[in-house]
Amino acid sequence: MSSNQNKISRLRGTQDIYGDTALLFQKIEQAAIRVFERYSFGELETPILEEKQLFVRALGTETDVVQKEMYEFEDRSKTQVAMRPEGTAGVVRAYLENNFDKNEGLCKFYYRGPMFRSERPQAGRLRQFHQIGVEELGTSSPYADAEVILSLCAFLEEAGATGFELKLNNLGTFEERTIYKEKLREFFKPQLKRLCEDCQKRFEKNVFRILDCKNPDCRKAISDAPTIESYLTEESKSHFDTVKSCLEAAGVKYKIDARMVRGLDYYTKTVFEVTHSKLGAQDALGAGGRYDQLIESFGGPSVGAVGFAVGVERLCLCLKSEEAISAETTTSFYVATLGPEALKAGFKILQSLRVEGLSAQMDFEAKSLKSQLRSADKAKSRYVIILGEEEMKKNICLFKDMAAKTQEEVGLKELLSICRDKK
Ligand code: HAM
Repeated sequence: MSSNQNKISRLRGTQDIYGDTALLFQKIEQAAIRVFERYSFGELETPILEEKQLFVRALGTETDVVQKEMYEFEDRSKTQVAMRPEGTAGVVRAYLENNFDKNEGLCKFYYRGPMFRSERPQAGRLRQFHQIGVEELGTSSPYADAEVILSLCAFLEEAGATGFELKLNNLGTFEERTIYKEKLREFFKPQLKRLCEDCQKRFEKNVFRILDCKNPDCRKAISDAPTIESYLTEESKSHFDTVKSCLEAAGVKYKIDARMVRGLDYYTKTVFEVTHSKLGAQDALGAGGRYDQLIESFGGPSVGAVGFAVGVERLCLCLKSEEAISAETTTSFYVATLGPEALKAGFKILQSLRVEGLSAQMDFEAKSLKSQLRSADKAKSRYVIILGEEEMKKNICLFKDMAAKTQEEVGLKELLSICRDKK
């Protein structure tokens, strides 16, 4: 069998995360945690695997995610299982299952982790991707919408993103939307033939989703479609006005996109999206909104909720293209050795540096000093401790400062305290 036949590649639309990208992921997560703590969100980790029905009921049977994008299977006990395509449904399930609705008023969670959607992979669109998000449950207050949007902007800024745009819309309640959907149907009916095949199906099943179609012919038709505004009640309008005035008071810029609809069916009233020009076709960096009827539809109390999720890979793309990742070097040490005795002594030095809390590494297979110096450079180590048979005899090592390009002899006894001082 040739070695090629033995090769197994990763699945399309999945990624191995390492090196600078892994560092960037860490930075993003740390930025998220710092900001979410400031906004009093506590962490909630829900399982990746859930009952398929959770997503079918929460996201809507006619959504693309449920219709064609979920990774689903029957497990050994014949349960229909899905790998979570998003985080909100699981958070709502956990909120009810752990009785948060009974014990506490307002519940504020943040979450992070992989999500799965079997979409056609392209730049910024993966089949396994990561989201960082928050959900604020148990409140219908417009101030909660504002708080969630402000925490989203604060998180993106803390992560180093600039130049993103915030778009808002008011989708009203399900009742208001029922009337609006009728008006949309009346509007699209005479021009059904102009619409793409998908939109012709949407016309029957979920007319609202036509507004989200990217097909140029459909976009032309959509540009004249009525907006929901005229079908909103005073209550819905005033809710949205409060959200907008909170954002204005906080100095956050936004645009109203009266035709923005979301791909998931649970939204009511405020919806929002953050886009970035560097992302190309898949320009949504994050999105979210209010979902006032979801908790009740799962047998919980009639309380509202609001949240958002940011795509971590997309945020990485923005940060990378903005060169926001500085090639930060931690003060780290590289132990370079020549010969078996030096390797043995070097390994002890390596361990004592780490016990001191210093970052240190070495190459156990190392052959030449040159190749070890190359590795130290690649690892962005600031200092290299060089130990050969000659140095061993004299109980010294060479201490090389890679940034200052200096090198000096140091007694092995003093080495540890010198390294400690460099920390
Ligand atoms: P969503 O708009 O489906 O909302 O996804 C949120 C973000 O996840 C997107 O803006 C995007 O950055 C990222 N994302 C989605 N699909 C992919 C993909 N295939 N590849 C890479 N990134 C992707 C939700 O998931 C809602 N649960 C948000 C929410 C929370 N609403 C209320 N609370």
